[in-house]
Amino acid sequence: MPKPSSQIHRAWWKESSVYQIWPASFKDSNDDGIGDIPGIVSKLDYIKNLGVDIVWLCPSYKSPQVDMGYDISDYYSIAEEYGTVADVEKLIQGCHERGMKLLMDLVVNHTSDQHEWFKQSRRSKDNEYRNWYVWKPARYDEQGNRQPPNNWVSHFQGSAWQWDEHTQEYYLHLYATEQPDLNWEHPPVRQAVHEIVRFWLDKGADGFRMDVINFISKDQRFPDAPVQDPRTPWQWGDKYYANGPRLHEYLQGIGQILTEYDAFSVGEMPFVKDTNEVLRAVRFDRHEINMIFNFEHVDIDHGPYDKFEPGSWKLTDLKSFFETWQKFMYENDGWNALYWENHDQPRSIDRFTNAKEEYRTAAGKMLATVLALQSGTPFVYQGQELGMRNVPVDWDMSEYKDIDCLNHWHRLLAHKPDDTEAHKIARQEYQKKSRDNGRTPVQWSAAPNGGFTGPNVKPWMSVNPDFERVNAEAQVQDPQSTYHYWSSVLGLRKKYHDIFVYGDYELVDRANEEIFAYTRQYENHKALVLANWTEKTLEWDPAANGIQGVQDVVLNTYGSAASTQERFTGGGGQWSLRPYEAVVALVQA
Ligand code: GLC
Ligand code: CA
Repeated sequence: MPKPSSQIHRAWWKESSVYQIWPASFKDSNDDGIGDIPGIVSKLDYIKNLGVDIVWLCPSYKSPQVDMGYDISDYYSIAEEYGTVADVEKLIQGCHERGMKLLMDLVVNHTSDQHEWFKQSRRSKDNEYRNWYVWKPARYDEQGNRQPPNNWVSHFQGSAWQWDEHTQEYYLHLYATEQPDLNWEHPPVRQAVHEIVRFWLDKGADGFRMDVINFISKDQRFPDAPVQDPRTPWQWGDKYYANGPRLHEYLQGIGQILTEYDAFSVGEMPFVKDTNEVLRAVRFDRHEINMIFNFEHVDIDHGPYDKFEPGSWKLTDLKSFFETWQKFMYENDGWNALYWENHDQPRSIDRFTNAKEEYRTAAGKMLATVLALQSGTPFVYQGQELGMRNVPVDWDMSEYKDIDCLNHWHRLLAHKPDDTEAHKIARQEYQKKSRDNGRTPVQWSAAPNGGFTGPNVKPWMSVNPDFERVNAEAQVQDPQSTYHYWSSVLGLRKKYHDIFVYGDYELVDRANEEIFAYTRQYENHKALVLANWTEKTLEWDPAANGIQGVQDVVLNTYGSAASTQERFTGGGGQWSLRPYEAVVALVQA
């Protein structure tokens, strides 16, 4: 049931949409093969014309780039290959001049092992910085062999603990060995993070995306995790570090500063399925974070133990995840972040549809419609607005760059050197799920290297060879492109923001495995969003699904709304939906 408008909390960050930039692959301005901040500045009009309000810049700080900048060695400088702090100031200014805001990425669950704090910390047990990280003595098994303090698995394979010869203890790294976890129990760590937050807000940044922010408080007993995967000693310890005991205390510490600046915040929260727990962070009156990225819909194709094992899913699973979060946040004064893609995910057309190449555009537009008109703040990842797809099936392993994927591959080669079948399956799964899929350079034009970098330069990662057909230059000129369609969807969301930002959500035709349909309603204003998730033409009966009185078709993936009016408003009966067609109509409440 729609709420009375007096119970709805309006906020600028609810009405906004966000464009995510992954700097290494956005635009190279100086022909060294790596994207950079001046490159981003040169494309601000392109971003603005898409109709977004906020730009999120992925980590651009000084870093050894073991995990593409998520391993920070200095929070106050910018990586040389990306530019300087002055360049970021120009970027902030360029955004502000165009009425957009800029978010920085706050990565404070861990640092790089090259950060000065960690260099000090590993120097000796009595170093002033020892306590800034999580150090533990070894355990010994019955045979007297040295073992890590517990059985937690690292997100990038193997044990989450690394032995330090020099000081004879282990340190915790939930990610790569080179990404030691900070010890948030230690007050100076929290203080240091608060200073970083203020530094960038004082520079004019408008808020933060917060990396794995729900991992910062760990159960201080560091217990062994329950064994879920019997094939390995290393198990998921999320029970003891995802939304740990002191998380909300820590988030309120940062939240106070964010509130002071009226800053935007979105937290990344893997593993959490408990809506009530998320609500404790995002409820309007909590002042912790505005919204979180949850993972249920993007984990949908993972295998039972491992993302790189084959998995399968049904459209009704996807609908049900969304429905849970949509209804719950609406009813409880929370808020959702909406995304299909980011730098850790494959391309959405490949993950969420089976679209053949001829339906790329149709599927891309359909996905844009279904996502951005739900309740929440939509995020568009670079290249998604162009309908970019996964890396080619025939790409050699040498094209893959991501530590997550490569660690998996190297472990497989080490453990099963002759199992060619396992190798083949793993490679198929990399092409479907490796983070590399979202990391190929943005395709700006049909020029060599897709215009990402100079014609004679070898980019740090190859450009997807389909750039000759699929690129920004062509799409900006084509009113029927995915790029312009995204701008129409975001524009529609703004035009009818009572409905699409503040309205209730009702799933329609729940059991249908081929159609994704929902309504949004604010007071007596109601809209239907209807999508054909298949390559077939489908018949759909609005009346049989409780939809009455279609007043106006306000958006259609197959062309201007005017020409499609009569297909949906003319005399009752069945509607015929073309392959991957989506339509948005105002209907009787
Ligand atoms: C987040 C980032 C990912 C990174 C990891 C460790 O999940 O999005 O790219 O590897 O945290 O910082
Ligand atoms: Ca460059």
